[in-house]
Amino acid sequence: MLDKIHSLLSEIDRLSVSNADELEALRIKYLSKKGIVSALMDDFRNVAPGQKREVGMKLNELKQKAQEKIQSLKEMFDGNKEKNLDIDLTRTAYPVSLGARHPISIVKEEICDIFKRLGFSIAEGPEVEDDWHVFSSLNFAEDHPARDMQDTFFIESNPDIVLRTHTSSVQTRVMEKTQPPIRIICPGRVYRNEAISYRAHCFFHQVEALYVDKDVSFADLKQALLFFAKEMFGNETKIRLRPSYFPFTEPSAEMDISCNLCGGEGCPFCKYTGWVEILGCGMVDPNVLDNCGIDSKSYTGYALGMGIERITNLKYQVKDLRMFSENDVSFLKQFQSAH
Ligand code: DAH
Repeated sequence: MLDKIHSLLSEIDRLSVSNADELEALRIKYLSKKGIVSALMDDFRNVAPGQKREVGMKLNELKQKAQEKIQSLKEMFDGNKEKNLDIDLTRTAYPVSLGARHPISIVKEEICDIFKRLGFSIAEGPEVEDDWHVFSSLNFAEDHPARDMQDTFFIESNPDIVLRTHTSSVQTRVMEKTQPPIRIICPGRVYRNEAISYRAHCFFHQVEALYVDKDVSFADLKQALLFFAKEMFGNETKIRLRPSYFPFTEPSAEMDISCNLCGGEGCPFCKYTGWVEILGCGMVDPNVLDNCGIDSKSYTGYALGMGIERITNLKYQVKDLRMFSENDVSFLKQFQSAH
């Protein structure tokens, strides 16, 4: 009897069917009341008592295997049947809705591409930073208002650790590790403790550029700025530099471009001045170079920093800053064709 069960086990393994009738025939042959398995169960009475345990176990295995096999053939068969019914190969495909690039990413890449063409390479740094890289190394005096609780998010358990308020922190990270020539562009997210409104958010994005080498001059800075403005906003764009103050640059300036909405004629967007401010810049303060282990007697450098949201607003006239972080698909979809 054991031999018979063994040969049935391998027979069941090899079973296959091509239609529902064949499947039903197999079920009857093996599992019905008059089927093979039932017949063996009846014969079980005649097995010698010493063998009952072994034969009984094998018999159960056979029954289970026959049930499983027939079930799996049935499932395969049902599955095919459904598939066959569902497919209409002539129907046009359902439309696939594609995701769109985020406008901030589009503009960030455009800015980086322009500077890459001037030989700059990308550098990145951490968003959770220490006071040294965000402030002290950049020549912020101990009592500088930018360190004030109003502006900076501090990590509660350690006031020396902050969320970076600008990407200038990446400047010092790179200068500490590298000797000139340095030509880097640093895109990234920054955080400030501001009330959220249509024109301010507690996080936004910046791109920083830094060039340090022998004999880098303000004229080099101005030329890079003009190149950037024309590439970004069109060849007819004019730039204007106004003196300003940043702790880490001396001299410092802010750059305006001719309003790209009215072409400089004057409109509500530029408040009828014909100019809009887009970035801060200047010659790297010698103290900053020395703080980072770069000899300020041999090297000079320029730096600049801009907000990506601001540039994006100028390009696409987005009125409310909050739209950039609301994940509203109908807003984000509009930028699909822009790239
Ligand atoms: N870090 C400044 C800010 O967040 C922007 C800036 C101004 C960066 C002048 C610079 C610079 O590198 O030279 O407002």
